[in-house]
Amino acid sequence: MHFFMVWQRYAEMLKKLYSVGTMRFNRRSLLFLLVLCTFMICFSFWSRCVLNPEPVDMNRKQMVDVATEGDFADVRFVNRGAKNYNMPVNEMEIPSANVQDMECEINKEYSVQCKRDDNEVYMPFSFIQKYFEVYGEFQNTDGYEKFEFAHSYSEVHQPPDVISPEGAFMSFEHYNVEIRKRVKCITAIEGVPISTQWEPAGHYYPIQIAQFALSHYSKYLREGEPETVSLLDGSNSDLGAWLTGVNVKVTSVWNQVRSSRVVEFQTPDALSNPGLYIHLKESIYALSMDLKIVSNGSISVTLKNDGATFHVHYVFSNTLITCDGKNIYYGLGVDRQDEWIHFARDADMDLLKGLMLKCSKYKKLNGLSLLGVTIRGHGVVDNVTLSSAVHMDHFFDAANWFVNHQDRRGGWPIMVTRKLIAGVMELQPGWYSAMAQGHGMSTLVRAYLKSKKSVYLRAAINALKLFEISSAQGGVKARFANSYDWYEEYPTTPSSFVLNGFIFSLFGLYDLKQVVKEEPLETVTRLYNEGIKSLKAMLLMYDSGFGTFYDLRHISVGLAPNRARWDYHTVHISQLLQLTKMEDDPLFSRTVKRWQEYMHGIRSPHN
Ligand SMILES: *[C@@H]1O[C@H](CO)[C@@H](O)[C@H](O)[C@H]1NC(C)=O
Ligand SMILES: *[C@@H]1O[C@H](CO)[C@@H](O)[C@H](O)[C@H]1NC(C)=O
Repeated sequence: MHFFMVWQRYAEMLKKLYSVGTMRFNRRSLLFLLVLCTFMICFSFWSRCVLNPEPVDMNRKQMVDVATEGDFADVRFVNRGAKNYNMPVNEMEIPSANVQDMECEINKEYSVQCKRDDNEVYMPFSFIQKYFEVYGEFQNTDGYEKFEFAHSYSEVHQPPDVISPEGAFMSFEHYNVEIRKRVKCITAIEGVPISTQWEPAGHYYPIQIAQFALSHYSKYLREGEPETVSLLDGSNSDLGAWLTGVNVKVTSVWNQVRSSRVVEFQTPDALSNPGLYIHLKESIYALSMDLKIVSNGSISVTLKNDGATFHVHYVFSNTLITCDGKNIYYGLGVDRQDEWIHFARDADMDLLKGLMLKCSKYKKLNGLSLLGVTIRGHGVVDNVTLSSAVHMDHFFDAANWFVNHQDRRGGWPIMVTRKLIAGVMELQPGWYSAMAQGHGMSTLVRAYLKSKKSVYLRAAINALKLFEISSAQGGVKARFANSYDWYEEYPTTPSSFVLNGFIFSLFGLYDLKQVVKEEPLETVTRLYNEGIKSLKAMLLMYDSGFGTFYDLRHISVGLAPNRARWDYHTVHISQLLQLTKMEDDPLFSRTVKRWQEYMHGIRSPHN
């Protein structure tokens, strides 16, 4: 109903402005009117902007998912002074008119082709969209077509009702990290995403790895136990469905390490061999098993996509991902033969990332079906399972990455050059990020609470150290106006004061604060309290009156303000919604209400 409210509101206004008298609208005039309305809205309430309005891939899948949930119904226009916008749509009609071309001159700078109908002027929506950074698209419901207009392309997701270090992380169940284009693949060696952002060759970006962990953890809490199909189990080694054929030997043996029966297999290593094969036709794609291979064997998944048959092979190599025609290869690591491997993969995602490589002409998943699983080589295997998801396996892979890659300063160095502003704010490889430290803590605290293993908690506590060290000394702490501590997502000198990364670092401190005692508790409490004090003092510096700023570069280096694009603005909103549940200060609830209104074009009052 959003759009019609806007429309009616402006139809009312236009009547007054242009004394058009009783308007009679037909369906054809709808779009023209919309365009005019949009122009009026924008002209009245928006200032001219130049930022590229192209939406980003962050959560694009979720954007599509939630767009169907009807969040738009939440629109309010109370402070716009509209009195009567409840008139039914079909009462608003205008005579079909004598519409003519007309030039529109914009700020005496340039022209666009418009339409005129008596005193009405209709501007092309394609122009309005770019000029005012607004969004619109045709919607067709059961043959009824309308045009939906919105100020923002992004959606706000609610944090959990209760904020707990064991609970979902903010609204991360809506994140899908691995689908992002800048994730090259989920490696089969460590099971974590590898990023091509800022470095096409790929690097391990702790923030991305933590977001991968926290999104799967949150999805697990939301979805519950996955749907599973057991394909092979050592204690019940029914091989009925498996093709064993020539050259394939299979026996059930007792395994000391697992203290259970497992399946021993022996087939030729070469991928050209049929191996131990099970023929399937499934529409769930997460494959897991525990196995130890002593020869140069492999695991393969056969998938049908877009009518063609693809094979995703997991082989003993250090090449993370490569492809050759319809074969995609993931390296399990050369040194992992003869070692128990807990294998857990989303075969659909692994295929998709393979398709994105240069060697394939297919670029998307379409009519996907899982046709089979093959195991080759000599080894033992247990608990081969197909599932709808392996969220907790992904979560623990990432949590283990944080344990295995923490350096002696307690940090996870980022090994790429980061140019926040070229020549002004730059970081050389090896920098730390407060956001990575905080996200790492949120991940590790959850891993500790789930597994009760102290190694995760120790790593989370170690991550505190860099919060005490200034950016200039290679830490993450900045000071604002010599009064407020600020934990920097990008610890440049001069400081950038990125808002969302700072708040995420506070969430990490908050999670850790809930689970530690004695000394670390004192430190983490002090760091958290100092951070919250700064946030309360500085929060409104990020409020532009119609949106938010991403950072404070306009203050720290005197450059143009860096407006947060809508998906960062919605991150700010989700963070404030969470803060209203963590901190008893009306500043957060008051501010978040206004920031949500900005998404519908409602601006702060003026003088
Ligand atoms: C093992 O097999 C993989 C894939 O078939 C191959 O790339 C690799 O070179 C082999 N390793 C050895 C040591 O033969
Ligand atoms: C077998 O794998 C499934 C899916 O990962 C898991 O839920 C189950 O606990 C495993 N069973 C054993 C005995 O390891």
